[in-house]
Formats: sequence, C-alpha cells, structure tokens
Amino acid sequence: MLTMKFFIETFGCQMNVYDSELVTGILIKNGYEQISNINKADILFLNTCAIREKAVERVIHKMEQYAHLKKKGDLKIAGVLGCIPQYSSDRLKKELPFIDILSGPDNYDKLPQMISECLKNKKIQENLELNEEQNYDDILPFIKNKFSSFVTIMRGCNNFCSYCVVPYVRGRERSRSAGSILRETSDAVSKGITEITLLGQNVNSYKSEGVSFPALLEKVSEIEGLKRLRFATSHPKDISDELIKVTAENKKICKHLHLPFQAGSNEVLKRMNRGYTKDEYLIKIENIRNSIPEIALTTDTIVGFPDETEEDFLQTLEVIEQAGFDNSFMFIYSEREHTYAKKNFKDNISKKIKSERLKKVAELQKKIGLEQIGNDVGKTKEILVESVSKKRKTEMMGRTGQNRIVIFESDDTIKAGDYINVHITGAEGVSLFGEIRN
Ligand code: 5AD
Ligand code: SF4
Repeated sequence: MLTMKFFIETFGCQMNVYDSELVTGILIKNGYEQISNINKADILFLNTCAIREKAVERVIHKMEQYAHLKKKGDLKIAGVLGCIPQYSSDRLKKELPFIDILSGPDNYDKLPQMISECLKNKKIQENLELNEEQNYDDILPFIKNKFSSFVTIMRGCNNFCSYCVVPYVRGRERSRSAGSILRETSDAVSKGITEITLLGQNVNSYKSEGVSFPALLEKVSEIEGLKRLRFATSHPKDISDELIKVTAENKKICKHLHLPFQAGSNEVLKRMNRGYTKDEYLIKIENIRNSIPEIALTTDTIVGFPDETEEDFLQTLEVIEQAGFDNSFMFIYSEREHTYAKKNFKDNISKKIKSERLKKVAELQKKIGLEQIGNDVGKTKEILVESVSKKRKTEMMGRTGQNRIVIFESDDTIKAGDYINVHITGAEGVSLFGEIRN
C-alpha cells in the first residue's frame, strides 16, 4: 500500500504548535508521511484554538476553503483537532458536514486508530474525552525548527479565570514528570536545538514528584549544549521569590518574563478571578526589576470585560504606563460558553467602545514598548539568528535574550541558528536595528 500523506496546520498558542509536533510524531511513527503541499495530502488536520470567537470563525472558514479537495476525492480525511472540537463539536458537525475526525487535546494517541476506522467504515470518528492523566510522556514530538523548540511541561489549567475557556477544553492541570521533560529536552539538544521554551498555562505551579518549577529550570539548564532557556506563561499570583532568584542567577535562563495582567481595575480583576490587585501586580514587577535589572516584560491585556467602566479602563492604561512592558498581546473580551463570566455577567460593552479601548491600549503600548526596547540602543547584544528579514533579503532577524527582535545587515557567513553579537544602533516599532560586531 502507498504511504498516506498528511498535512497539518496550526492555529492558536505555542501549546498548539507543540501539540502539532506531537501529532506529527505520532503519525510518522505509525507510517504516515508529512507533506507541506495540501493539494497532495490524503489527510488534512487543522489543530485549533477556541479562546476567542474570532479564532473559531477563522478555522471554520479555513476548513470551508478546503472543502473542494474533499469533494474532488483527493483528500480522504479532513479532521479538526484541539480546542474547538472540545468546545463545540456540534457546531463543527453542523457547519462542516464533510468532517471525518474530531479529536480533543487529550486523544492524539488514538489518531492512527481513528484514521483506520474512518477509512474502513467511512463514519465520523470522535474522541472528546478529557483525560486528566494524559501527558504524552512516552511520545517524542517531531520538531520542525532546527535550533529552537518548545517543550510542554504541564497541560490543562486550574485557575478558572472567569472569562477563559481553557480549563473546560484542556481540563485539569497536571505536570509531566521531570524525568520525561529532561529526556525530551536532552534529545532535542542532541539534535542541534540550542534554545528551549518550557510551556504551560501556568508554569509557576509546576510540581511533579517534589520537583518545583525553579528546580526544574535548574535541572534543564544543566543540559550540555543548551544555550538559552525560556518559559511561558507565568501567572502573577504564583510567581515566587525562588523563581526570580533562579532567573536572576542562572546564565542560561533568558531575562524575559511574560506576565499577563489582563486588566488594571481591582473590581474587574476580582470579577475576572485573577487573584491579585493592581498594586500587588505592580509591586511584583518592581521586585522583579530590582532583582533582575535587565528583565524585559511582556503581557496580555483584555479590554471590554462585562461592566468595564471608563474609570476601570483608565486603570488598565495606568498599569501599561507604569509597568513598562516591551510588548503586549491585546484582546477584546469574547464571551465563551461554560465560563463563569458567561453565566453570571452580561457582555454589555458595545463593539464600538471595545474597539476604541483596544485602539487606545495599542497606541499607548506602542509608545511604551519603543521606550523600553530603545534602552538597548548603543549596547552590544548577543542574538540568536532566526531567519532572513521579511522586508529585505540582505537583512536577517534574530532575538536577544530578552526576546527583542533585532534586524541587521547580514553577510554570506551568517545563517539561521547562529549566535552573533550585534551593536544596536536604532529602534523602530517593535524592532531593534544593529550592526554585526565580532
Ligand atoms: N476573551 C478575550 N481574551 C481572552 N483571553 C483568554 N480568554 C479570553 C476571552 N474570553 C486572553 C487572555 C489570555 C490570553 C491567552 O488570551 O489575555 O492571557
Ligand atoms: Fe485561562 Fe486564566 Fe488558565 Fe490562563 S490562567 S489559561 S487565562 S484560566
């Protein structure tokens, strides 16, 4: 029999990027071949995100665009994986009646079996049970990138922020064993990876067999050949002094912290169930900056949460002003099924006001971000080269330890994956510009 070819497209967060690598690993191990040309695929998987309504609409639209391949008969199986099937399989079946496979994030190990079943009896295959034991400990992901990769250290979330669907679609929080994380990171490094990002919805609450998150960082950092260690996402309520100390002292741990604050008003934070006040957040940041002066901070912000007044919103602007983030992912509140907010609050901020507030946070963030990264002008920084720059072929881009983007005029000797020193000469938008220094 000819080898069946699959094509996988990823939507959403870094956890999904990692999960697609897991799925790829599972399918390759079972004799399937990955291809990058959708027109030649026998199997199509979209790995999806349900965090906001727009994300759901985008995936449904994308799948509709692929419907003709299924009709033509070249594509045998079209499947939707991840958070959307877990969020609303009924909607997918209604809007995409040609779908063959629906799998939630805890059932990827069953995909080969589901594919076989589907080919045999031509019936839709669904696996949407949440499995609180599932960590994919024995499965090696197929890593696409040659020098940088993600390693998921925990799955699910127990925080139940009132707006968020993640605890419902990814289930309860569970940590992988330190042993399996170390095996996977060592394997990646032995294949040439020099930068690892440890992933979880709330990495600070990692705990497995007595190993805490700071202890895990120390262990992973000892892997020979690893140069940079990153992690995301951190929850402000769980960041410990020990984590700050380890980040400050360990040379391999990058001086960048992604610390979502979501909103500035204490009333809104309370209704969001975030577990901290505005002042507590700002004090945490001050402590972090005192211990790690070179730290770069990034964040997530939501505008238009139910009942958010103009006063509340001004507090959000105040946090952005005072905290000095390099960058922020900024979102308009999107009501989600199952959540406490949907059940108890009315999505009562108009679209117009939501958009205006988004525009205001984005403008302020742009100004503050430029001031922050501008502090690097005149300094020489080590960067990990990632790719040729999108704008000009003679330029390349890379990132500093603080995760700041640097664009520089390259030469023939430099390639993606290299670590080089760049003298920073300017800043514009979210990028730094520089010249190679030997
Ligand atoms: N609406 C808007 N943004 C959301 N986020 C999570 N849930 C929602 C929602 N319902 C944002 C938060 C979170 C990021 C991953 O997505 O800012 O930190
Ligand atoms: Fe969602 Fe809050 Fe968990 Fe993040 S910490 S995944 S925002 S519930």
